[in-house]
Amino acid sequence: MQPATSLTEIDFADQENPWDFLPATEQPAWRHHPEYNRCRRELRVAPPLVTESETEDALRAIAKVAAGSARMLQVGDCAESFDESGSAATAAKVDVITELAEHLSWRVAQETVRFGRMAGQYAKPRSNSLEVVDGVEMPVFRGHLVNAPEPNVVARHCDPRRLLRAHAASAEVLDGLRTHWQNPGTPGHNGPWTSHEALVMDYESPQVRTGVTTGARYLSSTHFPWIGERTRQLDHAQVRLLASVSNPVACKVGPTVDPATVVRLCGLLDPDRTPGRLTLIIRMGRSAVAEALAPVVRAVHRAGHPVVWLSDPMHGNTVRAKTGKKTRYLDAMIDEAVQFRSTLDSLGRHPGGVHLEVAATEVTECVGGPVADENALEAHYESLCDPRLSPEQAHEFIESVF
Ligand code: PEP
Ligand code: CO
Repeated sequence: MQPATSLTEIDFADQENPWDFLPATEQPAWRHHPEYNRCRRELRVAPPLVTESETEDALRAIAKVAAGSARMLQVGDCAESFDESGSAATAAKVDVITELAEHLSWRVAQETVRFGRMAGQYAKPRSNSLEVVDGVEMPVFRGHLVNAPEPNVVARHCDPRRLLRAHAASAEVLDGLRTHWQNPGTPGHNGPWTSHEALVMDYESPQVRTGVTTGARYLSSTHFPWIGERTRQLDHAQVRLLASVSNPVACKVGPTVDPATVVRLCGLLDPDRTPGRLTLIIRMGRSAVAEALAPVVRAVHRAGHPVVWLSDPMHGNTVRAKTGKKTRYLDAMIDEAVQFRSTLDSLGRHPGGVHLEVAATEVTECVGGPVADENALEAHYESLCDPRLSPEQAHEFIESVF
């Protein structure tokens, strides 16, 4: 394995794409496209979406969670849509996050630091590259950054011009988001900041910038990027990219991980053991979390990393409804999150908060609360990817877990 510093030895300024030297899965096959080089060049000189000082504010806020004096809520769509970047859509999403955060704060008597899966959550890892719709085989939808969701072969072609559309849509969402910030730049500023899965290297790597105040490199595509469960290989581009920037970062951790691997990830992503720098998002599933989480928590604690422990009770509890649609049961999510909380409590560690996929409207994508059973899923199933909780279901979740 390469040492943690190897990436910083690559001279960014001289390389069109330093990530070409590292393996990366889940990347769109669009390099032959006539617009590919132009789009990457334009992204390299596009205005930064977030500022270095905003990422520092976000890191300071997460440090309060690491210290045990605050909680974190990370909430939003599984896949954001380019069609929902206007100020009204953003205001509706901010309202939902804020109300859920107030609910959580009231339950636990602590302040809540807020993050949206917003302003960049446009790329999805997928288990299969192809699917069959009405007898026709086509590439799967990989998020608006890559292709279009309509079920036809033309829409599903990947198109690198979407790199620039994603940047423009993110800028618009951020414009809306910043109007909702209270006391920016002060210790009381609790977001909502932006976060998304740093997946597509052609989108992320041109947005690495040198900060003006510290001269450190930071990722200007979002305040708080995370690495997905499928792309957290230690020597892959996604891990090395986030190891090389100064933002607060997160990594998903699934049920099959071994504790030694998590410790190595922590060594790469948090070499200086900085409170707020690294969040581990636990998504093990209700039947695995009780056994798999404790050894990971013990190993990370022994290694001295002051990480934030966040529960994602969605991604380990996805099932197929009888209709064929993906769904999730609220009971299963509550069960996983309660086990997460009690495991951390019993080990004397702070259960930092939760990472949830929640819509801004009363969708019927998960079963529970007002959605009585799988037959009720059809009414308002609108997700572009994974099934989200409705705001009402999310409040019921918080009520039951905290
Ligand atoms: C997601 O957050 O939408 C996702 C794909 O998660 P994971 O990497 O945990 O599967
Ligand atoms: Co998802």
